[in-house]
Amino acid sequence: MRIVLGVSGGIAAYKAVEVCRRFVGAGHEVTAVLTDAARRFVGEATFSALATNPVPEGLWQRWDGGIAHTRLGQRADLVVVAPATADFLARYAAGMADDLLSATLLVTRAPVVVCPAMHTEMWEHPAVVENLLALRRRGVHVVPPESGTLAGGDEGAGRMAEPATIVATALALSARRCDLTGTHVVVSAGGTREPIDPVRVITNRSSGKQGHAIAEAAAARGARVTLVTSSALSAPAGVEVVHVESAADMHAAIAAAAPGADVVVMAAAVADFRPKAPAAQKVHGLPELVLEPTPDILAGLAEARRPGQVLVGFAAETQDVVARARRKLERKGVDLVVVNDVSAPGAGFDHDTNEVTILGADGSVAVVPLTSKRQVADAILDEVVARLERDARDTRDARDSKRDTKED
Ligand code: CTP
Repeated sequence: MRIVLGVSGGIAAYKAVEVCRRFVGAGHEVTAVLTDAARRFVGEATFSALATNPVPEGLWQRWDGGIAHTRLGQRADLVVVAPATADFLARYAAGMADDLLSATLLVTRAPVVVCPAMHTEMWEHPAVVENLLALRRRGVHVVPPESGTLAGGDEGAGRMAEPATIVATALALSARRCDLTGTHVVVSAGGTREPIDPVRVITNRSSGKQGHAIAEAAAARGARVTLVTSSALSAPAGVEVVHVESAADMHAAIAAAAPGADVVVMAAAVADFRPKAPAAQKVHGLPELVLEPTPDILAGLAEARRPGQVLVGFAAETQDVVARARRKLERKGVDLVVVNDVSAPGAGFDHDTNEVTILGADGSVAVVPLTSKRQVADAILDEVVARLERDARDTRDARDSKRDTKED
């Protein structure tokens, strides 16, 4: 694989040497592209000695029979920028092309991985947060920084991920298909908590693991992902997270995120009912519980859906599993229902593994035997991608036949 390793000007540039060495050691052809600021931290000679190719000098140089600023990006199979400074991210997000690295990034159609490294104050600044969000929306993958010692002896979040993590993430990513690039996927996860009073809640046994695995898999396949979750699990890398508690919170968050989304996967175990009037103060003694149904978020999405949007629901059952799920599929008006028999060993709530059947409104049935929740996630996304591709094909055919009719 041809890899362009971009190095921008932060102290973590010294760790990029190790990233370069590991890529070359794994048998890849590596060209390091240094910004002017990077050259202040690490010498060009180091990268020229370690990489497969010498470090190109800049925009105006001839390269591989062409001009460097287009040829490098066109020929790359993967571009990794480590470290990616706040300044570099801003210039990349703005579409600048005034040095070899930024021009290469504008030209390339290969997967791009950025590895931010900066001081905590910068990492948390809204400008940096928004730039990263814009890049993620365009399909750029982010290996988030870790917490630790920063330049000048400060401590905090912003230290570049370790070279081994960067190389493993980048190689795993390029090995996977990027079939959701350019799409927006909204995923809900976890069991909601419905307040009885300020202390107590009604909830269920959902851990959020399956929903988080779907969010992670969708991001790895190139989607921009919004994860609406009530789970305390840590968020997958590169995913926009909205934390919620109750069915009402989840309803509001999904209503905000779903209208523009290409795919909505409702993996959350949304409570079907909640206390009608939660007490404002802690209840002493036995509470009188009057329950009311919660709004059915998924059914609402199906009513309001735009053409081409793919909706996926979940069903947790313990008996007549497939027959009940098929009825649910029809009742809710969704494209796919993922049904798990939560009474099966190793499947359902809180396990790291799952075993599901994916039913399609078009009559399709895909059985996924017991495997990791991450692999179940990819199997669900395979079904989603098949529907997105079918919709895109149908739209293209309809447009072509309209044009043909006009020309006649
Ligand atoms: N769901 C929802 N809003 C609710 C309840 C559920 O969007 N208020 C979604 C879940 O996220 C899941 C699917 O609907 O995708 C589950 O359907 P549901 O009818 O709640 O399943 P069960 O709780 O198993 O219901 P039933 O008692 O009808 O079997």
